[in-house]
Amino acid sequence: MSTVWEAGAPDDPQDVERLVSADVVEEDLEIERSLRPRRLEEYLGQSRVKDNLSILIEAAIQRGEPLDHILLSGPPGLGKTTLAGVIAAELNVHLKTTSGPAIERPGDLAAILTNLEPGDVLFIDEIHRLNRVVEEVLYPAMEDYSLDIVIGKGPAARSIRLDLARFTLVGATTRTGLITGPLRDRFGMAFRLDYYGVEELVAIVLRSAGILGVAVDEGGAAEIARRSRGTPRLANRLLKRVRDYAQVKHASVVTEDVAAEALAFFHVDHMGLDWMDLRILTTLTETFAGRPVGLSTLASATGEEPETLEDVYEPYLLQLGFIVRTPKGRQATARAYDHLGLPSPISAPEQGGLF
Ligand SMILES: Nc1ncnc2c1ncn2[C@@H]1O[C@H](COP(=O)(O)OP(=O)(O)OP(=O)(O)O)[C@@H](O)[C@H]1O
Ligand SMILES: [Mg+2]
Repeated sequence: MSTVWEAGAPDDPQDVERLVSADVVEEDLEIERSLRPRRLEEYLGQSRVKDNLSILIEAAIQRGEPLDHILLSGPPGLGKTTLAGVIAAELNVHLKTTSGPAIERPGDLAAILTNLEPGDVLFIDEIHRLNRVVEEVLYPAMEDYSLDIVIGKGPAARSIRLDLARFTLVGATTRTGLITGPLRDRFGMAFRLDYYGVEELVAIVLRSAGILGVAVDEGGAAEIARRSRGTPRLANRLLKRVRDYAQVKHASVVTEDVAAEALAFFHVDHMGLDWMDLRILTTLTETFAGRPVGLSTLASATGEEPETLEDVYEPYLLQLGFIVRTPKGRQATARAYDHLGLPSPISAPEQGGLF
């Protein structure tokens, strides 16, 4: 692994381990609020999703009806929460936000639903983590804007039906696979957010730099964009780190060289891989000598939670073509060996000719 560290980096890679993990960290919260686009025109990239949404939104406004329920999926930091806010702003309605794990009992959900006003957007983050009993209360609410409440217990129990305001549910998930069929079927539209291209990220970095008052040129923005793993949250986080570095080094403008130097210092390599990515790759290539490795084995060998490996690290490594998922487990590809500067024991066609 030492081959990939660049000179001048902090001694302990664990200190910077989370820098390019797309999971939201404490330090992001405030900055994300200030950088978060509020309207569709400020929401950069994802043009297919935006085009579709703007038609749906306009049609709903013209008809004076609530927007269809919308399911947003995709890896962390790509703008699902942001988009929920944008949808509410474009519809000019209130946004109520909650999350799957926060709704413990049917009563919690009933309280939220009965407080909605006509047209409101209810955003349920991590909707795949709703428990089954709560999910069943959601079905009639989504379908007929009604709520069945059971009053009393035992033989005296009776059910009454409450009418709800006609609302729009926006659900977000990093795991479409974990959404049950009946829930998925009740969404009118499902959009999957994909990793952003470098040009889109350059635009995001320049917009954020404008808001934060950071002087960055095109080359500097491009260097940050290339190392941001296709993820706006990371582009913003790296911009902030680069700004701090430039300030300490008395660089007045963030140029390509300044950005590259700063990011090497923070252990983010030229493809945006960090300490944990490299650890995953060396575990596959060296510890397990290129053999397929199951998720739980990989988790214990790297000291990371299986869910984090699956949600945060794997999608980008898969996207880069550095790993493949085979029926027997995860396997490093020839590209990964190449990136690590190791001779590849595998010829590309053996892995299905994907690369
Ligand atoms: N399309 C975009 N244009 C500009 N900035 C964006 C865009 N999408 C996201 N961002 C920026 O990235 C940050 C993270 O986005 P957001 O919180 O919406 O991601 P998320 O998909 O909800 O992530 P998670 O799965 O962790 O909840 C936002 O605060 C915003 O600043
Ligand atoms: Mg979110």
